[in-house]
Amino acid sequence: MKFTEQLNAVAIDGPAGSGKSTISKLVAEKLGFTYIDTGAMYRALTLKVMEEKIDFSNEEKIINLSKNIDIKLLPARDGINTIKVLLDGKDVSEKIRAADVTRNVKYTAKLKGVRENLVALQRLMAEKLSGVVMEGRDITTVVLPTAKYKIYLDASFEERVKRRLLEFEKKGEILPVEELEKDLEERDNSDFTRDVGPLKKAEGAIVIDTTNLSISDVVTRITDYVKKKL
Ligand code: CDP
Repeated sequence: MKFTEQLNAVAIDGPAGSGKSTISKLVAEKLGFTYIDTGAMYRALTLKVMEEKIDFSNEEKIINLSKNIDIKLLPARDGINTIKVLLDGKDVSEKIRAADVTRNVKYTAKLKGVRENLVALQRLMAEKLSGVVMEGRDITTVVLPTAKYKIYLDASFEERVKRRLLEFEKKGEILPVEELEKDLEERDNSDFTRDVGPLKKAEGAIVIDTTNLSISDVVTRITDYVKKKL
């Protein structure tokens, strides 16, 4: 693909709890595109660092690990709207969502070398597909700046905390609100302020504040926008 060509891709960025994953999966289904969750890749790398007992201050080792990492994202047909994440051939879909992984992602995601390696992988994935919905923090700005459709999803801090609370409740886990607030605040801080690939609104992206919108409202807005631009 030439760099100047537009990619048949819906690129979606936004902070934690803005609804990216839920919305992206549904949009992908509606459009018949493949869904790619780039956060799952940073999470899988973080899990590997933890499993290999590498210290998070050992940047060189972590960057090396990200160079040859074997991550596969597969559609999980057993549960609609989910994807299966394979790390070195093993299913780590659940493990990568654990609280300790979530807490540690910031140490790997801030490293320039890590981002270069994972971004290269993500571009390869997208370019092989005839239609893709890719979501993360730097998709519209760094990974796929040539995507035809760019979206920034937002929601108020209070609403994002509420959504996280419900997510955990659904899994049967009760977490103190203060803990969730602290986690979101810390992740926002590292996502918005890191030197490489920080979260920001890309030029030309449509911004959707999802605070008072239902999931289906947001999905319809995005699919309408794509159809209009086709
Ligand atoms: O779903 P949630 O918002 O909790 O997070 P995620 O999308 O699974 O991403 C996990 C972490 O990976 C985020 O807190 C980001 O710091 C990082 N990430 C990133 O740096 N770049 C991306 N393209 C995607 C995620």
